[in-house]
Amino acid sequence: MNKQLNEKYLRSFLHGFSSLSNIRQNGPQIITKGEGIYVFDDSGQRYLEANSGLWNAVLGFSDSTAIDAALSQFEAISSYHTFFGRNSIAAIELAELLSNSSPLPGGRIFFTNSGSEANDTAIKMAWMVQRSRGEKGRRKILARRGGYHGTTVMGANLTGRDYNRVFGMPFGDVRFTDCPHYWRYGFDGETESEFLERIISNLIQLIELEGPETVAALIAEPVLGAGGVIVPPEQYFPKVREVLDRYKILLIADEVITGLGRTGTLWGSEKFSVDPDIITTSKCVTAGYYPVGAAMPSAEITAELDKASSDLDEFPHGFTTAGNPVGCAIGLAVVNKIVNGGVFSNLVEVIPHFQKRLNEFNNHPHVGEVRGVGLMGAIEVVKNRDKKLPFDPSYDVSENLAQAGYREGIIIRPIGNAVLFAPPFIINKNQVDELFDAFSRALNTTLDRVG
Ligand SMILES: Cc1ncc(COP(=O)(O)O)c(C=O)c1O
Repeated sequence: MNKQLNEKYLRSFLHGFSSLSNIRQNGPQIITKGEGIYVFDDSGQRYLEANSGLWNAVLGFSDSTAIDAALSQFEAISSYHTFFGRNSIAAIELAELLSNSSPLPGGRIFFTNSGSEANDTAIKMAWMVQRSRGEKGRRKILARRGGYHGTTVMGANLTGRDYNRVFGMPFGDVRFTDCPHYWRYGFDGETESEFLERIISNLIQLIELEGPETVAALIAEPVLGAGGVIVPPEQYFPKVREVLDRYKILLIADEVITGLGRTGTLWGSEKFSVDPDIITTSKCVTAGYYPVGAAMPSAEITAELDKASSDLDEFPHGFTTAGNPVGCAIGLAVVNKIVNGGVFSNLVEVIPHFQKRLNEFNNHPHVGEVRGVGLMGAIEVVKNRDKKLPFDPSYDVSENLAQAGYREGIIIRPIGNAVLFAPPFIINKNQVDELFDAFSRALNTTLDRVG
């Protein structure tokens, strides 16, 4: 980065989710160009973006279908809202496409600008529906430790990560239940099915303790993403659903990451038999080319929302720029390309090779766990494999690994003691090899240093 830009940057830019000491030491990484699954920094260096940016650039960084859709929509009408019954053709067409491709047929689509806003919207829907059912006391929302639901006040409040304590969270009517990560939280000698029974019985105890008549909904990602790609035991969601049904609690599936293909089925809810009342999604809808999110209630919840809205004659909620016609035109092009344009079939074809290469690291003496599904994966690095003992935190092993990866030309994401992989859906098998060959070199150099 040139000196002038660096001065502007240091003077004026405030980062989220970035290590300030790292930035002070190494400066920011400025990305100036994208081509397919690669991005280029301001010195011309090329990187394979193995996290699709933030899970979202699933069509890569130069998709002409999305770009053309944006340009034509900018020319027709570039900005309009969806309040007071107004709308655009693109928003209606995208809503129809999402509704038809979702596992909640007959449900309607409420647009937002982000995943966090989609989750906030789903919570308001749950409260409104419970109230309309005569269950005013049902205010509490259950979430899982390790879950990530965003950064708005409610999104962060539902996020089971310690860093939100700086905001005095969690507060109010939010309660946390277990993270379904068997490798990390299973007791010594406990089988996976015993672990599952234990966390389901903990969920029942929590609901009983709080009083079922005070609980509105549970929110869960089909696969915990930012929590480290945690794939639940196979019977987890059917058992959770059974418990929630027993206590008349709604289930919100946060498919901000898993919606539209990431797990190898179009929706994570299908892969893991989630059977949700409301789905939220965002990242893949526009592949990151525009901020769009959506809350998608089932047909039954949609009908109940209509009824609940009748008092005020409206659903009193919305965002100025949500349903923007340019965002929706891009969404229409992107979702069509994923669902009907061959991207999903490419994904399905590449997944076995991706998972095979990922799982090869399972034999490494410093790999504690390899986990993943579809085109998402994580490798947990440990000092001692048998004891699941991490390296000393003073040597930030995953950050060092990500930096070594960067030097090898790949962008991977460090989380805790793991690194995450979630490449664009358009990746091919050779590029999967390029990614894991580079990662293997990065792993060796990082471990050589830590000794
Ligand atoms: C599962 C999940 N939910 C919600 C969000 C928040 O989405 P956004 O950053 O668009 O608000 C994210 C973002 O990573 C996510 O992974």
